[in-house]
Amino acid sequence: MKPGSPGKAGLPEDAHPLTSEFFAPGEKARFVRSVFDTIAPRYDFLNSVTSFGLHRRWRQAALRMTGLREGDAALDVACGTGDFLPGLRRLVGQDGTVVGLDFSRRMLEHARDRLARSGVQALLVLGDAERMPFRSECFQAMTTGFALRNFSDLEAFFRESRRVLTPGGKLVALEIAGPEWWPYRPLFFWYFEKVLPRLAALLRGERQAYRWLPASLAAFHSREGVTRLMRQAGFTDISIRNLAGGAVCIYTGTKP
Ligand SMILES: C[S@@+](CC[C@H](N)C(=O)[O-])C[C@H]1O[C@@H](n2cnc3c(N)ncnc32)[C@H](O)[C@@H]1O
Repeated sequence: MKPGSPGKAGLPEDAHPLTSEFFAPGEKARFVRSVFDTIAPRYDFLNSVTSFGLHRRWRQAALRMTGLREGDAALDVACGTGDFLPGLRRLVGQDGTVVGLDFSRRMLEHARDRLARSGVQALLVLGDAERMPFRSECFQAMTTGFALRNFSDLEAFFRESRRVLTPGGKLVALEIAGPEWWPYRPLFFWYFEKVLPRLAALLRGERQAYRWLPASLAAFHSREGVTRLMRQAGFTDISIRNLAGGAVCIYTGTKP
């Protein structure tokens, strides 16, 4: 099966040959949660090192696309250690609501500690992005960073996103994508597949976790595949904005 193509009929999306050395079909959620529980203490450091510190700038770009205003309710799905939460709080102000959702308890513990240190108010919820524990139509915008590749059922995530957003609400998803032009593309994949896992191992990171990063990208949908699923879930005004020469991109869509 080519990366980006839909799963074979009858097989779960995670039954991709590139992911089979990591988990058995149907076991992706359990594997992903254990990866993030394991790397949680080093996640922020490794994130900065592997993105050359650029992830902060990419997040600012994503936040500007949410259309959030004072008093709104904002949700960051798969919030991890909480990188998006202070920015969301700035946008919605003290009268607004900020919620972070993640299924890794260890990542959420780090988010809680960071929030306590910075004095930023946000509600942290332990739960699944594919079955969100929220009532329908309660958030004006939703962000998610570097998480789409980690979901087991991307269609379920988009369906749930549409359900919990208010009409006119925005979904903004920041994701690693892979540049499309030569010679940047082979260079990018060399860094991602060969350098990054070794770097992570040297930095006392978990080698297995950082081998998962390139595998998850290789097994993931193309940009068009992602936007097709967003459209199928009912989003409109779908757009893709490339950053860092296409190494990452921001998907946006509106709930009609
Ligand atoms: C690469 S980290 C990204 C963390 C954060 N969003 C950021 O921008 O740095 C991926 C996060 O997705 C979470 N995650 C993956 N699948 C999930 C799911 N089905 N439900 C909730 N969280 C999930 C993981 O626990 C992890 O914290």
